[in-house]
Amino acid sequence: MRRIDFDITTPSSSYSVLISERLEEFSDALLSFLRGRKALILCDPGSSTAGLETVQSILNSGCIEHAVHVLEGGEKAKSLASLESVLHALIEGRFSRNDLIINLGGGVVGDLGGFAAAIFMRGIGYINIPTTLLSMIDSSIGGKTGIDHFGIKNMLGAFHQPRLVVCAYDLIRSLPEREKLSGFGEVLKYYCLSASPSIGNAIEYRRIDPELIGECCAIKLHYVSEDIADHGKRRLLNLGHTFGHAFEASSGFLLSHGEAVALGLAAAARFGERIGVTDSGVADKIEELISLLGMSSDFSKYSASAFAFLHHDKKSDSGSIEMAFIKSFGQPLLRRVPIEQAVRFLSDLRK
Ligand SMILES: NC(=O)c1ccc[n+]([C@@H]2O[C@H](COP(=O)([O-])OP(=O)(O)OC[C@H]3O[C@@H](n4cnc5c(N)ncnc54)[C@H](O)[C@@H]3O)[C@@H](O)[C@H]2O)c1
Repeated sequence: MRRIDFDITTPSSSYSVLISERLEEFSDALLSFLRGRKALILCDPGSSTAGLETVQSILNSGCIEHAVHVLEGGEKAKSLASLESVLHALIEGRFSRNDLIINLGGGVVGDLGGFAAAIFMRGIGYINIPTTLLSMIDSSIGGKTGIDHFGIKNMLGAFHQPRLVVCAYDLIRSLPEREKLSGFGEVLKYYCLSASPSIGNAIEYRRIDPELIGECCAIKLHYVSEDIADHGKRRLLNLGHTFGHAFEASSGFLLSHGEAVALGLAAAARFGERIGVTDSGVADKIEELISLLGMSSDFSKYSASAFAFLHHDKKSDSGSIEMAFIKSFGQPLLRRVPIEQAVRFLSDLRK
């Protein structure tokens, strides 16, 4: 067994992120949190096929009372209606403040379940068992929870940290190829932030293994642990996301999150080169890496309707927006730019 453990301490909590090959290896860790509590397992059709039976057999082995709530698959589940359905399941199942939600799934299940945990009875605990590459390396850590609203990404939400995160590498074996690639959108972000040769190599060979997951988690924890409330350093993790979220929403969520982030990284690099914050040649290299992954870096077709979403971005304020860029690989920076300048960049692409 190769196992990587991280501990994350925030002003309000501390928790472990455990990474290994098989879910069964975390049986003791899970049961030690669940003894004396009830659990609501949240999942969707994809994640339940991957891991529900194993999670239930672990809980049964410890005589943990539990219920299962299955959400619809994909981004549309990050809605008020789904949130309501989860809250109803908690109320109807007579869950108490001492009980826990187990999010078995990708970023959608994790974001929604974490938000339900944040607001049910003013906050209960939750455990993340991520089942997609993207959720193992990114969304399951850091406590950003929420749902989309009015077609805008993550419009409603809360910071609420999980009690435990267990990443079992074998769960992603059943992941469809498109979802694996989507996870590589965030892997590419970590490469831009770190210039790590081993992450570069994983991108080149599309290699997914526990070491890649561990290295990406370590980078995320590096940015999150010192800035849990997203006031400074953590904002560098928004690299590729300002344009990415706008492309994702303007595609009507036909683009997956990771595909949109890959496009957003390409767009941020082109925009950065135009305004002189990014070294020339960086955008070409990012586009080359995206094409090595077999993904598209042509963001021009999404630019037409994307700019409306820039105004709704949480980093926008009084006509300007804070964006993350890289000067070169491994050298991220934040820069506030007029929204009009970003809009002009996108509209020029349409000519
Ligand atoms: N909170 C954060 O910090 C953070 C960070 C990054 C992304 N996100 C959010 O994460 C979401 C995207 O997450 P995602 O890419 O994991 O997508 P997802 O949760 O929608 O999962 C993608 C698809 O894969 C299926 N699936 C999941 N696990 C499976 C498995 N093991 N085998 C087979 N099918 C499986 C699901 O049913 C779904 O259809 C977006 O909403 C994004 O905003 C949040």
